[in-house]
Amino acid sequence: MKTECLQANRQTLERAAALLRAGEVVAFPTETVYGLGACAEQAPAVARIFAAKNRPADNPLIVHVAHMEQVPALAKKWTGLADKLARAFWPGPLSLIVPAADAIQAIVTAGLDSVAIRMPSHPVALELIRLAGPLAAPSANTSGRPSPVQAAHVMEDMCGKIPLVLDGGTCTVGVESTVVDVRAAVPVILRPGDIIQEQIAAVCGGCEVAKGVFEPVAGKAASPGMLHRHYAPHGQATLVEASAHMVRTICDLYDQAEQAGLRTVILSSRRHAEAYGARQQIVCDAQGDMNHGLFTALREADARGYERILLEGRPRSGRGMAYMNRALRAAGFHTAE
Ligand code: TXA
Ligand code: MG
Repeated sequence: MKTECLQANRQTLERAAALLRAGEVVAFPTETVYGLGACAEQAPAVARIFAAKNRPADNPLIVHVAHMEQVPALAKKWTGLADKLARAFWPGPLSLIVPAADAIQAIVTAGLDSVAIRMPSHPVALELIRLAGPLAAPSANTSGRPSPVQAAHVMEDMCGKIPLVLDGGTCTVGVESTVVDVRAAVPVILRPGDIIQEQIAAVCGGCEVAKGVFEPVAGKAASPGMLHRHYAPHGQATLVEASAHMVRTICDLYDQAEQAGLRTVILSSRRHAEAYGARQQIVCDAQGDMNHGLFTALREADARGYERILLEGRPRSGRGMAYMNRALRAAGFHTAE
């Protein structure tokens, strides 16, 4: 299949919507990462998403809406917490897990009785949903690869597999949405993102974090996505925990790897860049913060053929929670202190 990558505008948006309505899959920008969308009510179209990504069938998709009137057809129950959080943070990088409406396609929820719903804030995403209806959309990467934050990343993974990528520039957030289960009395973060625990707690009076956020999960997970291999670069990655001696540990590991003949790189932050001296680096927060640049840095490390990748750690709270959740998975939970 020929894959077109076109600047998003009125004309290409209408073309994308027509493809979606005809049962095709289209990649589109959101404020977090690029999504791979299909009309949520068309099961065969949603099946094409799983095929293009090589995504395990047990990993459910987020349904993206453009306005609140689209929610009742998706959610069996819109809980008080869902209402509070949607009012506070939608449109934005927050996905809410609520009981699924009976009519929802089982392929979207991977057969679960819950569904993740999100109203993105990116104008291209919103317009596409207005034209085509609610879109089931995971991140537009091949399963296991870092999520795409530029149209070029989507093309790396999806070229030849889907008809159209809408290019809306670089995603401003850079990590996927915060996923929150709002079915019980206290909200639970299943995947941290740009909307942080403290912001959710301020609205709901409390907020828990699921165990699997910082740990490998085996067996039954609160969120199936926790079980799967994620964000993994080809090179062997190690995450060095934040501490007063982090830079020194990274330098030592780097020098050992170099001596062993491995092409090595540090995914660094601007404030430590100088301390690494002449060692190879990709600065993660060159254009924003560490969350913004992590996935691009992981893809770049692969493109440049690095065999050993050393990631800086951060505190596991605040906005560092999303970074550490992704960085730990990129490193296959391989850490050093
Ligand atoms: O920012 C984002 O969320 C992006 C953009 C495109 O919106 N989407 C995204 O989708 O990251 P995906 O499929 O790559 O990640 C969705 C995560 C997975 O970890 C999945 O397991 C979890 O949400 N999830 C979806 N539905 C769920 C449900 N009913 N219960 C628990 N977890 C669910
Ligand atoms: Mg994903």
